[in-house]
Amino acid sequence: MDVNPDDLPDGLVVADADGAVVCFNAAAARLTGREPGEALGSPLPAVLPLEDLDGRRWWQLTDPYGGLAISNGHPERNLLLPGGHEVLVSARYVRARARGPVRRVVVTLRGTEARRRTERSHAELIATVAHELRSPLTSVKGFTATLLAKWERFTDDQKRLMLQTVDADAGRVTRLIAELLDISRIDSGRLEVRRQRLDIARAVRRHVGAHLAAGEPDSRFAVDIAADLPDLWADPDKIDQVLGNLLENAVRHGEGTVTIEVRSASSPRDPGTPGTPGGAGEPGGPGEPGEKATTVTVSDEGPGIPEESMSRVFTRFWRGSRRGGTGLGLYIVKGIVEAHGGVITVERAPVGGARFRFTLPVGAPAFLA
Ligand SMILES: Nc1ncnc2c1ncn2[C@@H]1O[C@H](COP(=O)(O)OP(=O)(O)OP(=O)(O)O)[C@@H](O)[C@H]1O
Ligand SMILES: [Mg+2]
Repeated sequence: MDVNPDDLPDGLVVADADGAVVCFNAAAARLTGREPGEALGSPLPAVLPLEDLDGRRWWQLTDPYGGLAISNGHPERNLLLPGGHEVLVSARYVRARARGPVRRVVVTLRGTEARRRTERSHAELIATVAHELRSPLTSVKGFTATLLAKWERFTDDQKRLMLQTVDADAGRVTRLIAELLDISRIDSGRLEVRRQRLDIARAVRRHVGAHLAAGEPDSRFAVDIAADLPDLWADPDKIDQVLGNLLENAVRHGEGTVTIEVRSASSPRDPGTPGTPGGAGEPGGPGEPGEKATTVTVSDEGPGIPEESMSRVFTRFWRGSRRGGTGLGLYIVKGIVEAHGGVITVERAPVGGARFRFTLPVGAPAFLA
């Protein structure tokens, strides 16, 4: 096989038995800002004047040619090039035989941007989470401290009001933590789907019933369920989370009548079906082209999602309006739908408002899958 070192995504630098550079690929040139022409034939330490984070000269420290004859290189290290540019460096010392002299030193270089980006996104996640947890906990702490210090001075009604606030805030913290656990499972691909026979029509009616019991007027909902639904095998608790979130969003962020339609469809992966292809699907499992599926559409008559934000609604912590919650709901919804091999999309409803549609392949019971 003919591989050109310049095709490698990582920097590659090879030095021969005398320490002279014999290979210096395009990515190495880009990372170091050095021309291959001037690098070739020069001593390795001059071509790659690496220093560790304490400013020590790396090649003097490791001494591949003169050091321990049992050393075979070093794993990825964060080192500095002149000007303080960070690079991730791994090296292999190729010996003719075990403990023999070094014949070649092979060094790979990798930029740190990608790693920095994930580190930054983790740091941002932690900052956001800390912020979200702090405000309810500040209120819990404040009210309990006040109650403990001045219990006799408050009337029963005042005390009840404070305890209700504490209760609501503690509830928010509990919910947030449950959502964060879901997110960590989704992000690490560990979201388990326990498929059971699921009566989606009943689930939809139950969710609507809960909103009516909570005081929403009858006229707020229109439920339209097709008669020819295929048997659906899905994780009932998880689909409850999906329906709960979409309905809550439609009620809270939308306006007017919330319409829920349930239809049979062909699998979201079917090439003939519009929509984005599924993400973390189940290879070889449900969701094969042509397989039957169930589609649920939730639309409302509110302001909808602005066109320019549609690509962001499913990202974590995105919230558009002042009435927003934590902005984790739709991220979890998407993770759950995709873990079922399904897809979810958002668009503008014909009368305005937002329209969320998810399609689940009918799947198979866990013992057949
Ligand atoms: N039906 C809708 N109509 C208008 N805007 C919506 C609708 N559904 C969601 N949104 C917008 O998308 C944002 C993200 O929704 P998501 O469910 O992820 O978070 P949230 O509802 O704000 O908080 P959470 O669900 O975590 O309590 C919302 O803040 C809201 O601005
Ligand atoms: Mg929500």
